[in-house]
Amino acid sequence: MNKLLVLVVCFNLLMCLSIPDLSAADFIYDEGKVPSYTLPDPLLCADGTKVADSAAWKNKRRPELLKIFETEVYGRMQGKPAKMTFEITSTDKNVLGGKAIRKEITAYFLGTKNGPKMNILLYVPNEVKKPVPAFVGLNFEGNHTVAKDPGIKLADRWERGGKEKGMRKMPGEETRGSASVPWSVDMLMAKGYALATVYYGDLEPDFAEGWKWGVRGALAKNGLDTQFAADDGGAIGIWAWGLSRILDYLETDSDIDAKHVAVMGHSRLGKTALWAGATDERFALVISNNSGCGGAALSKRIFGETVGRINTVFPHWFCGNFRKYNENEKDLPVDQHELIALIAPRPVYAASAEEDKWADPRGEFLSAKNAEPVYKLFGLEGLCVDDMPGIDKPVGKTIGYHIRTGKHAVLEYDWEQYIAFADRHFNHSVGSKVEK
Ligand code: GCU
Repeated sequence: MNKLLVLVVCFNLLMCLSIPDLSAADFIYDEGKVPSYTLPDPLLCADGTKVADSAAWKNKRRPELLKIFETEVYGRMQGKPAKMTFEITSTDKNVLGGKAIRKEITAYFLGTKNGPKMNILLYVPNEVKKPVPAFVGLNFEGNHTVAKDPGIKLADRWERGGKEKGMRKMPGEETRGSASVPWSVDMLMAKGYALATVYYGDLEPDFAEGWKWGVRGALAKNGLDTQFAADDGGAIGIWAWGLSRILDYLETDSDIDAKHVAVMGHSRLGKTALWAGATDERFALVISNNSGCGGAALSKRIFGETVGRINTVFPHWFCGNFRKYNENEKDLPVDQHELIALIAPRPVYAASAEEDKWADPRGEFLSAKNAEPVYKLFGLEGLCVDDMPGIDKPVGKTIGYHIRTGKHAVLEYDWEQYIAFADRHFNHSVGSKVEK
């Protein structure tokens, strides 16, 4: 291999592992260096009046705040396509050692087979009474990586981390089941939850021009000639939209209790899960795992990843207007505690990892904490603590939080907490008790 090739391979590996490629010295990792900042008050309306009850929140302040997030951060959310159809392409009633039913469903967004589409993988536990509650989330590497199940169709779109942009065959069998830990399908089945997941690359390949191969391009009026407006949705917007389309399908499936569907995501897909939860009130519970900047972490702390850095390295994630706040977080009219507040009164859980400083664990905790006044309007208790809890000590009632040992990842420990949280809020209990 020549030196250039080695360099290219190393660069791709670095991007793939999501390691920040700037030196720590360029960012704040020291609590003492966090500038003083003022968080916007979620209860303060644009006209200067203060929200005093849940009706004023729902009818006045919530729509107002949602609009600011749409205009300034994630871009406008598109609606449900009128002609969308679903096709169940495979069903096997006896997979994962008999513990689950596997279905694969294709959603055709424009109702045509050669138009934009996504492939949903659905596992439903076998040994419990139907309908069952479900978790929904996008996966990073293809549906076939979620479980070591030979029957899952291999993803056939863009390959994450691949050198070529655009459509490219996914690696094959060797990656089957490679994301079994982050998805913990066996645990979900044992606890009586269905899991519905889609490869995020089906919706939009994750690079600056990826929209040309994704649903944003396919739905845009001017196709590939599209010039996006400053408040048009970015990749996070279309990924979140895809999560809502999965829920559209689940509402049609009699095995699923669509009133008890939790949306969950990790990292950039954790940002996505929060945005989906904020915009689509059908999601009954929302989970953000290590979502960091543009997710659960407060932007105004400027700890770890900053708005300027995220908009530079990932220019396709947010809307054009978000760039106004590069190196200028103080002018942001909202902060991420208000994104969490948009989920109220539904339960929400934010999780951090001790070594994931890039995502600002304290900023994630403080976001959750500062969403509490909105939950209080509904008579609900949030975190029930004022200070950040110790490592591996989950807290919270309607707002859950933990910081666990280890790195930026989804581990079994995280799933144990999410399932216990969902059990509590969905009044659901199957299988042996999980530590709460
Ligand atoms: C990068 C990015 C983060 C993101 C993460 C991921 O580290 O800077 O904002 O959360 O990738 O999605 O893995």
